[in-house]
Amino acid sequence: MDIGASHLETVIAFRRWSARTLSITTTRPSDYAFRPGHYARVSLPCFERPLWRPYSIVSSSDQPQLEFLFSIIPSGRLTPLLGELTVESVILIDRNPMGFFLEESLSPGEVLWLLATGTGVGPYISLLREGGIFAKYQQVILVYSVRARAELAYDDELRALQQQLDGRFHYLPVITREPGTGYLSERIPALIGSGRLANELGMTPINPVRDRVMVCGNPEFTSGMRALLNERQFAPCRRGQAGTMLFEKYW
Ligand SMILES: Cc1cc2nc3c(=O)[nH]c(=O)nc-3n(C[C@H](O)[C@H](O)[C@H](O)COP(=O)(O)OP(=O)(O)OC[C@H]3O[C@@H](n4cnc5c(N)ncnc54)[C@H](O)[C@@H]3O)c2cc1C
Ligand SMILES: NC(=O)c1ccc[n+]([C@@H]2O[C@H](COP(=O)([O-])OP(=O)(O)OC[C@H]3O[C@@H](n4cnc5c(N)ncnc54)[C@H](OP(=O)(O)O)[C@@H]3O)[C@@H](O)[C@H]2O)c1
Repeated sequence: MDIGASHLETVIAFRRWSARTLSITTTRPSDYAFRPGHYARVSLPCFERPLWRPYSIVSSSDQPQLEFLFSIIPSGRLTPLLGELTVESVILIDRNPMGFFLEESLSPGEVLWLLATGTGVGPYISLLREGGIFAKYQQVILVYSVRARAELAYDDELRALQQQLDGRFHYLPVITREPGTGYLSERIPALIGSGRLANELGMTPINPVRDRVMVCGNPEFTSGMRALLNERQFAPCRRGQAGTMLFEKYW
């Protein structure tokens, strides 16, 4: 098979968060340099021609492996096969990391909001592990929405970080389809639009003077947040021009 300039890597470990949501750790090519927010194009050697799908990199750039978080889409072409891999399976990683979901594209601000649905939390784990954002922002707030508690990947790691960075990092999980769990349960745009989240944190409503916002996941969620932030006069990042809001749409 012609794999062109891509890398053949080996699966080292899995973490299964729920029946359909997993993390996979692979070896990392020696010359594979990336920054939090970049994605890798991933495929498997079983295809005659590689069937590439982009996956945000979860590991930080100083970790020796690559880690990805994904959900199995039953009708999908790649993810059901990724879900069947075992330790020592071979995986294809395209030559170079890609993408523009990079925190450094934002202009300086006081508070960084990291908003995610589902596996959209992945790039934020990389950013939080790397830690540079804590020297740039007074506060970092992660709001992470999933349908059910079992889908909350990296929950332990995020709680531990919140405890360690008492008052500097706020982790706000949202569970939308399990009433009575005591978690926030409204969708993120509603929680932000009503001012409820800011209120819970003892802050004034979100605004482009103080806040910088990253949004990642479900495309209807990213569109909803874009509309809300546009109304509040947030500015998109353009090549060569820093902005106050940044988006990554997964499908
Ligand atoms: C920049 C970027 C980064 C991404 N990073 C991640 C990541 O870190 N983790 C991750 O799980 N996915 C991520 N995705 C989505 C991923 O690339 C695939 O689209 C997804 O895993 C489905 O692949 P598949 O081949 O199984 O399904 P496909 O054969 O591509 O088809 C599945 C269909 O389901 C829809 N779909 C795709 N993803 C989802 C989803 N998560 N939920 C519901 N419907 C979906 C699409 O509309 C598509 O038509 C990212 C996408 C982009 C553009
Ligand atoms: N999660 C599961 O248990 C499950 C099981 C089998 C199959 N699937 C399939 O897998 C795919 C992905 O499911 P997923 O649960 O990972 O992702 P998802 O449908 O994007 O849901 C993840 C979170 O995003 C929220 N959300 C969805 N649309 C939104 C919007 N427009 N604005 C704001 N928030 C929004 C959801 O809230 P709401 O709950 O309010 O939508 C949920 O809290 C779907 O196609 C689904 O059919 C999921």
